Amino acid sequence: MQWIHYASFFREFFRQPMQLGTFLPSSPFLERRVVRLAELEQADVAVELGAGVGGITSRALECLPKRSTLLAVELSPPLARVLRTWKDPRLIVHEGSAGEFRDVLKASELARPDVIISGIPLAVMPRRESASLLSEAWETLAPGGRLVIYQFRRDVERIAGFCGQPAAVEVEPLNIPPLRVYCWRKPAEVRTRLSARLLRTRVDGPVRTRDRSNDPRRRPLQAALASVRGGGRRHRPIHGVNAEGRSEEPSTARSSRDA
Ligand SMILES: C[S@@+](CC[C@H](N)C(=O)[O-])C[C@H]1O[C@@H](n2cnc3c(N)ncnc32)[C@H](O)[C@@H]1O
Repeated sequence: MQWIHYASFFREFFRQPMQLGTFLPSSPFLERRVVRLAELEQADVAVELGAGVGGITSRALECLPKRSTLLAVELSPPLARVLRTWKDPRLIVHEGSAGEFRDVLKASELARPDVIISGIPLAVMPRRESASLLSEAWETLAPGGRLVIYQFRRDVERIAGFCGQPAAVEVEPLNIPPLRVYCWRKPAEVRTRLSARLLRTRVDGPVRTRDRSNDPRRRPLQAALASVRGGGRRHRPIHGVNAEGRSEEPSTARSSRDA
């Protein structure tokens, strides 16, 4: 990152201190820790919420495979402008609120993300808003995906009950201020079961029921059903076809069959 990026962040902090949460962007130590926990080398789609001036963004792009996509969402227009200066065809910059990330994924026809990273200061957001953002992120994440959140305060531990599992937590002391990095991994079983079903459909074709209409064991049952249908008031009368191929009335049809 260049000094101009630090200056932009610093300036924006004086305009919106609560929104930024800190006056300095993440240190290279924090950037590396976040990216390592996110395992971006295996991601097709990644999302970064609160990308700032793009320190973690650029580090993430170093690790992402060539054909992957990174969606960076940033609320502050001056910081989003800085993000757009990172020229990489894999990067999509969305200037707006983090809560819009699902709409952007949909509009860009992107798959469910394998990684979601967030540095948004959750503690200063209304509790309901932060809880709904995190549960949406968790829900949207692909099976086996990673949700990585770096924070100064520990509120996220209480908010993140929706995950139903504890996070892996690391502390990065070489950052101002030192931060905790949380990583939740979504279980991969759903993907395994789904892919097994897809595989079976592709390899074996859809499951078909056996045609039992000629099974001699079913003839008494078929005869019984036919007589019930024939006698039932809700069913249409049976029209027969005579030897010349003309349609006969039900009574005639029955008598010609009996003959
Ligand atoms: C602590 S800074 C982290 C910046 C950057 N990721 C870094 O590591 O240096 C938090 C960032 O989140 C952004 N932010 C805060 N609330 C947001 C929201 N609701 N939606 C999107 N971005 C938000 C801030 O503007 C700020 O850039």
